[in-house]
Amino acid sequence: MPDYFAYNENWSSIYEQFTSIHGRVAEADETAAFLERYCSGGSALELGIGDGRVAVPLSDRGVRVEGIDNSDNMLKLLEKRTDLIKTWNGDIANFRSDKRYNLIYCAYNTFTVLITREAQIGCLRSSAEALHDEGTLVLEIPVPDMVGFVSGQKTTTTFMDHENTFINADVHDPLNQNLVSTLLWFSGTSVRSLPYRSRYVYHQELDTMAECVGLKLAERWGDWARGAFNEESRRHISVYRRAGL
Ligand SMILES: C[S@@+](CC[C@H](N)C(=O)[O-])C[C@H]1O[C@@H](n2cnc3c(N)ncnc32)[C@H](O)[C@@H]1O
Repeated sequence: MPDYFAYNENWSSIYEQFTSIHGRVAEADETAAFLERYCSGGSALELGIGDGRVAVPLSDRGVRVEGIDNSDNMLKLLEKRTDLIKTWNGDIANFRSDKRYNLIYCAYNTFTVLITREAQIGCLRSSAEALHDEGTLVLEIPVPDMVGFVSGQKTTTTFMDHENTFINADVHDPLNQNLVSTLLWFSGTSVRSLPYRSRYVYHQELDTMAECVGLKLAERWGDWARGAFNEESRRHISVYRRAGL
């Protein structure tokens, strides 16, 4: 059984290259522009801040950004880039902060790395408690892609060019809404194998979990450029505020 925490530490050595190849570094400015408008001149907290892919451009826009991550190696990557962003090692499934934030956000597929329903609700509850009364929670969540599983297994080529091929091998654990996955990265003569586990969540379940902790959906978009969320969408950007506002 792979150690899924070690996955985070293993990913840190390839994270910058991986996100760059997958267009996520190029997208980070657009993500920061989307997020900036919810900060109202105040502060933001990123859940699973990683190497600061989004936090650094958001900080460059003058927002006071802080972040939580449970990988020291990821936090070291961020420290090399800036000393303006305060971070701490912690678990986003259950965190407390004395401070209140205008914006709390969780980008990429980070929320689904919380592999139980309880951990996902715990993350939403901790976020609700750490928000200002009029604060905003923004989550980027992949739309579950359950097409193509045969006997509970699926392989998908997620990226290919003349130098790199990425293949994702997923095993479905339907009782837990989990995917037990291995990313295989072929480049030149090397193959790297990166295991990870995730809990997929549909947007309506997410809204129900948010309602359980006093948050209500305010907006939902299909991408960071505010494209529509529709049946073609591969992800959604969901914006929550306190119910009753
Ligand atoms: C997919 S990366 C995203 C990093 C960054 N937010 C971005 O958008 O590029 C997920 C990050 O979440 C961190 N992480 C995973 N599970 C966590 C947990 N339970 N608590 C805190 N951080 C966690 C990982 O170490 C990693 O840095």
